[in-house]
Amino acid sequence: MLQLKTISVSINKKLILKNLSYHFKKGKVYAIMGPNGSGKSTLAYAIAGHPNYKLEVGSLKFEGSDVTNLSPDKRAKRGIFLSFQTPHSLAGVNVFQLLRIALLGKEDPLTVKQKIEKIAKKLEIKKDLIERSLNVGTSGGEKKKLELLQAAVLDPKLLIFDEIDTGVDIDALRTIAKFMSENRYGKTYLLITHYNRILHYIKPDRVLVLMAGKLVKEGNAKLAVEIEKKGYKRVVSS
Ligand SMILES: Nc1ncnc2c1ncn2[C@@H]1O[C@H](COP(=O)(O)OP(=O)(O)OP(=O)(O)O)[C@@H](O)[C@H]1O
Ligand SMILES: [Mg+2]
Repeated sequence: MLQLKTISVSINKKLILKNLSYHFKKGKVYAIMGPNGSGKSTLAYAIAGHPNYKLEVGSLKFEGSDVTNLSPDKRAKRGIFLSFQTPHSLAGVNVFQLLRIALLGKEDPLTVKQKIEKIAKKLEIKKDLIERSLNVGTSGGEKKKLELLQAAVLDPKLLIFDEIDTGVDIDALRTIAKFMSENRYGKTYLLITHYNRILHYIKPDRVLVLMAGKLVKEGNAKLAVEIEKKGYKRVVSS
């Protein structure tokens, strides 16, 4: 469903991702792991089409069509969703107002509101959080739940979560991962993570390891367990 063909990506003329190729398949869950600064967030931004992340060479194919030159909003409309490692705040706009605009012409406002309320309940998101300006004065863990709420309402095909498990408490992590697991049918998930914890609840089909901008190892769920035990250097060199 998503094909990366020898992509090299730079930021401010600094080459970060080097000749990366991978074919993500529909309906699968991928864990993307790697040391700090290895290029995981860069990969997420490159797939979403962030303009600061320049594709030097290569191409991206999504659902059979070339999306290499598509803007982020057009990629989002095709079904690519990115949850940021550090979600942005939107003063004066709450989650309903944001999603109502995003789904304009697709869903009527009442349906959007009902969906938000239903999913917020499942994710145990407090009512005042959905009424308040998005992510303004919101705790780190609450922001991550709001990211998942937006993903669930938008209903994309490809869901990229950049460290949704960072800064969330044990119960919130379970709630988040269980929700993902229950809603994974037909969806493709890219879970960027440092920890195996989230993968207990949502089992990855494949685990990819990025180091210094290159895909250096791939395996099944056991690879994440091994990484947790031994660390990247020992696992990659073995
Ligand atoms: N705007 C920027 N200008 C220069 N270098 C940048 C910029 N943004 C990111 N980088 C560099 O690109 C490299 C990859 O960063 P990236 O955020 O993709 O890493 P990551 O694997 O997501 O790390 P982490 O696990 O810490 O989130 C890092 O060395 C980072 O310093
Ligand atoms: Mg990152």
